[in-house]
Amino acid sequence: MEIASIGQALPRYLIQAEHERPETMRDLATLLYQISLASKAIARELGRAALTGTLGMTGEVNVQGELVKKLDVLANEIIVEALEDSGLVSTIVSEELDEPLYLEKAGERAKYVVCLDPVDGSSNIDVNGIVGTFFSIRDRKGQGPDQLAADVLQPGTAQVAAGYVMYGPSTVFVYTARDGLHAFTLDPTLGEFLLSQEGIRIPARGKTYSVNEGNFHRWHPYTRRLVEHLRTIDKATDRPYSLRYTGSMVADLHRTLLEGGLFLYPADVDDPKKPTGKLRLLYEAAPAALVVEQAGGRASTGTEQILEIQPTSPHQRVPLIIGSPEDVALAEDFYQERR
Ligand code: AHG
Ligand code: MN
Ligand code: MN
Repeated sequence: MEIASIGQALPRYLIQAEHERPETMRDLATLLYQISLASKAIARELGRAALTGTLGMTGEVNVQGELVKKLDVLANEIIVEALEDSGLVSTIVSEELDEPLYLEKAGERAKYVVCLDPVDGSSNIDVNGIVGTFFSIRDRKGQGPDQLAADVLQPGTAQVAAGYVMYGPSTVFVYTARDGLHAFTLDPTLGEFLLSQEGIRIPARGKTYSVNEGNFHRWHPYTRRLVEHLRTIDKATDRPYSLRYTGSMVADLHRTLLEGGLFLYPADVDDPKKPTGKLRLLYEAAPAALVVEQAGGRASTGTEQILEIQPTSPHQRVPLIIGSPEDVALAEDFYQERR
């Protein structure tokens, strides 16, 4: 058994990336480091929440009509403060903020817009389940609060970097700055993220699908037929697939990246509040799509590429089918009536 190298700590890795690609990475490296620092503080709060009285609800409902947990608020405060402190961010879109936050005091250096899901999979918090953080970084386009829409409503293709943090048995920081996908595992004794996987590649096809199947009867017939296909026995095509679903997209995405397969949160034809599914474009689907595409995977609504969708509002939802390229292509065959 080899002792893990401590040479590839995240700060050093980012400095090296800055050295190799100064144009792109100069400030982006600092910003990614700042997000990683916030994530260490969030991991700390999650780890002791049962002891500090921070489990449970705040009693508030967010702009999307969902109950807010104490840790949603705490994590949002931690990460917003870290972003403000960097001096590099002009605008923040967060699941936990009704409106985009324009940082009045941000100066010339504040050239980024960051979209966030501070705690993804909140329903897992009170049962010590896996949760995550999504982040998505775009260049600022406008120069003032009146330019907010231009800054915030940029498609996923405009992301300069994106990633997620998974708070599981270990805390993992996964990011891409369009140079492949890299994972760093937190060594709690050092308090540092250390490189654990460089240039992650998703398998071309997997053996699992991941979806809230309790919604089966609310789905569009295309989705139902796809899922029925995946669970049909057929030796020649290695079916049925297994079902894995944690209720935290970060955790399901991480497994899908490493082992292949499909994750989906489809549209809900029965619920007028969810005609486009549940997941938010700017801070869930778009960062997930860039991450997966950087690993050789795909992300689609069934008919459109997630990264190409032009957002029309900050908390807009979108149906999502994401994962191994062959599995996403199979799903698209159902949605585009080729099967
Ligand atoms: P969030 O906790 O940020 O609101 O996100 C939860 C999302 C996602 O993580 C997960 O895949 C999905 O919602 C779970 O929803 P269901 O409980 O409807 O399956
Ligand atoms: Mn989420
Ligand atoms: Mn959330």
